[in-house]
Amino acid sequence: MSVTLAFDVYGTLIDTHGVVYKLQKVAGDKAQAFSQTWRDKQLEYSFRRGLMKNYQNFAVCTSHALDYTCRYYKITLIKEQKMELLDSYRALPAFDDVVDSLARLKAAGFRLYAFSNGSADTVETLLSAAGIRDFFLGIVSVDDLKSFKPDPAVYSHFIKKSEASISDTWLISSNPFDVIGAISAGMRAAWVQRSKEAIFDPWGVEPTLTIASLRELPEKIG
Ligand code: LAC
Repeated sequence: MSVTLAFDVYGTLIDTHGVVYKLQKVAGDKAQAFSQTWRDKQLEYSFRRGLMKNYQNFAVCTSHALDYTCRYYKITLIKEQKMELLDSYRALPAFDDVVDSLARLKAAGFRLYAFSNGSADTVETLLSAAGIRDFFLGIVSVDDLKSFKPDPAVYSHFIKKSEASISDTWLISSNPFDVIGAISAGMRAAWVQRSKEAIFDPWGVEPTLTIASLRELPEKIG
C-alpha cells in the first residue's frame, strides 16, 4: 500500500503570519508580536473548547482570539477592519517550499491529504487561494467530530476517512503539539522546524523525523 501523508495546514503549508503586512496598518511595529499572540490564543481557545466539550469551529476560535489580541494590545478595530483581517485569514500564502515539494511527493506516488483544525470549506478555500488544492486527494477536518487536535479521536478519524493504514501514514506538521498528538495516537510524524528558534516540547516524545523544509521529505520518507 502506498504511503499516506497527512499535511497539517496552518503553520505547515500555509503561513499564518502572512497577515502581518495587513496588521501593520492597525498595530504598527507591533504587527509581528500581534500576529504571534493571535495565533497562540487561537490554538489555546481550540484546546480549551476541546477540553470543555464546548465546540465552536476554528473560525470562531480565530475571531475570538483576534478580539482578545486587540484588547491585549489596546487596539480598537472598527467592524470593517476586523472583517478585513478575518478575510485575509481565509486567503493566506503558502510557504515557499510547498508547491515544488507537494509536486514531487505526488509524482512519487504518495497519497496526499490536508488534515486540519479548520473546517473543510475554509480549508478548501484556503488551499485553492494558495494554488495547492489539486495536490490533495482530499481534506479531512476535525469539524466532522466537533473536536480539535490533539484529541486522539481526530487522528483515528483521519485514518478512517482517508482509508489509510496507520502503519503507512505520516503526519507532517510544524506544530509540536500536533506531532506529539499523532505519535501518541499511533502514527509516525515529521516535525517541520520552520525556524531555528522553534522548540519541540520536552515531553520525552521525539518526532519520528525532523526536517527544516518540506523539500527534505521525498528523500527522507521512503
Ligand atoms: C491546523 C492547525 C493545527 O491546521 O493549525 O490543524
